[in-house]
Parts: sequence; C-alpha cells; structure tokens
Amino acid sequence: MSSKYSNLNFEEEPDYPPENVYPPKWNFDNEKAWQLYRRAKREQWDEESIDWKEVKDIASGLDRKQKLAIAYWWGLLSNFDNATPVFAYAVIKAFEQHLDTAIRGILTTITYDENRHNIMCGLAINNVLPGFPFDFKPQDDLERKAKLNVLWTWWNGSRYWKAYLEAYKKYTFDVLFTSFMMGEAAATTVFTTMSKGAKINAFKELFKNTAVDETRHYAFTHMIMSQNAEKMDDERKKLVTKQIRAGFVFLSLITYIPPKDFWKLPPWFIEVHQKMEDIARDAGFYIPELKEKEEAWRNAVLRVGASLKHYGIRLPDMPELGISGDIVENIKEDDFIPVF
Ligand SMILES: [Fe+2]
Ligand SMILES: [Fe+2]
Repeated sequence: MSSKYSNLNFEEEPDYPPENVYPPKWNFDNEKAWQLYRRAKREQWDEESIDWKEVKDIASGLDRKQKLAIAYWWGLLSNFDNATPVFAYAVIKAFEQHLDTAIRGILTTITYDENRHNIMCGLAINNVLPGFPFDFKPQDDLERKAKLNVLWTWWNGSRYWKAYLEAYKKYTFDVLFTSFMMGEAAATTVFTTMSKGAKINAFKELFKNTAVDETRHYAFTHMIMSQNAEKMDDERKKLVTKQIRAGFVFLSLITYIPPKDFWKLPPWFIEVHQKMEDIARDAGFYIPELKEKEEAWRNAVLRVGASLKHYGIRLPDMPELGISGDIVENIKEDDFIPVF
C-alpha cells in the first residue's frame, strides 16, 4: 500500500515543511534581544503577592455605585489586557518563522506578563464587586447602562481579535510589532500616572509593577523597529504611521476620550463613562483628569515620534493633541492592525 511517506529517503537529511515549528533551532547572537530577555526574567512579579485584603477592606466601606464605578474601570482596562492569546499566537508564529531564539524567549515572557495583567483585572473586580459584569443585576438605568458599556467594549474586542488573526496573513512581523509601539508607550504612561495618583496602596503597587512590564514591552517593540526599519520600504513606513494613529484611537477608550472611529458603542457611552469616572474619583480611586490625560498622551506620542523620526518614519496628524503630521484617513476594520 502506498502512502505519501512511501518515498522517504532516509539516506538523506529530511526536507522540513515551511512555516513549521520544527526543526528546533537556536542562535545565540542578537545580544540586544538577549539582554531584554534577561531583564524580563529579572523583573517578574507576583500578582497574588499584592495586598488584596486591603482592597477588599476599603471596598467594603464604599457604597454600591462607588464599587460599581471602580469595577467598571477595571472591566474596561481588561479589554486591553486580555492579551495573553495575542502574544501566545505571536509565539507560535515566531517559532514557525524561526525568529531569533532570544526574540521567541521575549515573546514567551510577554505572554506571561499579559496573563498576569489579565488576572490582575479579574482580582481587582473580584475584590471590589464580585461577579461584575455578568452576574451584576442592575437596579437602575445608570447601572444598566454602565454594565452594557463594559459588555459592548468587550464585543468590540472580539472584532479586534478576528482582525488580529488576519493581520498575520497580510503583514510581516516587523510591521506588526512596530504597530504595537504606540499601545505599549500609552500603557506605560497610563500605569505610571495611575500609580503616582493612587491612594490605595495595593493599587499603587499594581500600577507601578505593570508600568515596569509595559516599559519593557515598549523596549521590545522599539528594538524590533530599530532592527528592521532599514529594510522597510516607504509603503511599510506609511503603514507604521497609520498604526500610530490607530493605537491612539483604540487606547483612547480608557486613556482619553472614548473615540468615534472604529468603535461601535451605545449612544450613551461617553455620558455614562464620564459619570462612572467621577464616581470612582469620589470614592478615592484616582483617574487623571482630561488635561492630565492629554498631557500624558502628548508625551507618549512625542516619545514614539522621536524614535520613529530617526528611521524616517513620520508621525500621523493628531489634532486632538495639537500634533501635526501625516493625515491618516478613517481607520477601517479590514485594513488596520489591531494594537495591544
Ligand atoms: Fe498589559
Ligand atoms: Fe504590554
């Protein structure tokens, strides 16, 4: 009986199929990547070592709406920190394409980091308002709308995920990961600001530790860009410019003013969102005011812009922040790269 394996010639070395995680291969150059990999191992922390009892105790002294507002914020954050599968998928792709051993190693650490961030969101909600949002029974219109805000944000996340899987068919690894630059820079800024302002110690520590992770993720995206920018043609560079804009649009939901581009959200979204933020602030949960948010974004964008300029990549126009650059047309679902 013949099979597709009947002609194998064992006297010769096998032919391996392309885009396959086999054969295992290692390389020990790319010292910059090794340094970052070592840093990632050194900087690990444990989300379960946070003083969650403090959070629970403080929450027990808050009223229902205040608890809801804090759980609401963590619920929205989790939309962006649901990135474990994002990086797990990147790990698979990196092995299939036999990227440098150290790059693959870094991606495994980011997968672990993002899983920690995801559990952190869950623990925060569980200690403030257990069961939110799915088991939360709204008692008035504001509560109902706040719950729907979170659920619809997550629904947009599901659109994001599909586009992300598709992106690997359309874009090379370097463009994909350079696209994450704005997201990581914004995340660094958000968590640094949140940790400086936080009054609850446990949250202060959480944000500080998360900022350390996100700073390292930013360093990774920066390294990918600097190691690949020279090979990027003008078209790829333009794509990166567009992605900086996309990063701003997507992350603005939590870091700035919920955007109109891309997102499909309930008509009351912004109004209820701002109410929730105010209630959370009254409860002692620090959230930066609009002016601070703008300042943080401007700094993040200028920081990314300064590194990109070095490689001949231009910033997009950001009229909201008073930054002028290349105009990026409406960001559409089928031609963007999701930013995490
Ligand atoms: Fe994260
Ligand atoms: Fe990150």
